[in-house]
Amino acid sequence: MDLGLRGKKAVVTGATKGIGRAIVDLLAAEGCDVALCARSEDEVEEAVRAIKARGVEVVGGSVNVRDAEAYKAWLEQAVEQLGGCDIFIPNVSAGGGMDSEKNWWKNFEIDVLHTVRGCETLMPHLEKSGDGSIVVISSTNALETFYVPMAYNAMKAALITYAKQLSQFVGRKNVRVNSVCPGPIYFEGGAWEMIKATNAKMYDATLKAMPNGRFGGPEEIARVVAFLASPAASIITGANVVADNGFTKRVQY
Ligand SMILES: NC(=O)c1ccc[n+]([C@@H]2O[C@H](COP(=O)([O-])OP(=O)(O)OC[C@H]3O[C@@H](n4cnc5c(N)ncnc54)[C@H](OP(=O)(O)O)[C@@H]3O)[C@@H](O)[C@H]2O)c1
Repeated sequence: MDLGLRGKKAVVTGATKGIGRAIVDLLAAEGCDVALCARSEDEVEEAVRAIKARGVEVVGGSVNVRDAEAYKAWLEQAVEQLGGCDIFIPNVSAGGGMDSEKNWWKNFEIDVLHTVRGCETLMPHLEKSGDGSIVVISSTNALETFYVPMAYNAMKAALITYAKQLSQFVGRKNVRVNSVCPGPIYFEGGAWEMIKATNAKMYDATLKAMPNGRFGGPEEIARVVAFLASPAASIITGANVVADNGFTKRVQY
């Protein structure tokens, strides 16, 4: 199936490793020009170099999305360098953590506000595209009780509601908005590798909850995101797609 991604211009935040990296790799392989950011300058340079080998335009930026002005300036600059924006994937998260007010602010500013600021900054460009698409990265932690009440879980839930309501608001401008809830995703250098090393009980219980007995991989989430972002998913907007290897147990109507 041709996803119709060739020549599209995509902005992905937090894309030097894990799910974000798999998304830019796949979008570039499908012929998209891509802009990516992360905080580590070295890792951004490495990612830009590697993805350029696919023969597409790649723009990289070392930016902390928590810094609103620097982040918005980078988005505008990236779009100018790419020559437009058809796809936006806000992927950065502050991650989980035991509750304290510090966590709530971090998850609000990073998970929620970076998504909202990105959507608002890029909306004029997405509208101009005529075929705009946003895929917000949430988590199954938003859907079912996950160990302890965490800011991460609640803020990821806020993103699903935001994405749905935004989809209604911008539909007439030919911008689609969807969210994806990945289940636990294992990769080298990722959170689950760290949990495996430091909390074997939690790791084993999580693995056991997967009906097929394995964690998901970043590239499996990337395929779902690339499809939703693409013109091939033209009928899908306002949806929340759960991509979790059967980790969640609720019946989803
Ligand atoms: N992994 C999972 O099991 C899982 C499950 C469900 C949902 N998710 C969601 O999927 C998304 C990606 O998670 P992941 O586990 O693949 O990757 P990750 O380990 O959270 O790292 C993602 C990327 O974000 C960058 N980043 C982190 N903080 C940043 C900041 N403040 N400003 C700019 N860039 C920043 C990192 O590079 P730097 O450190 O250099 O900045 C890295 O490139 C997140 O939204 C996460 O909540 C993950």
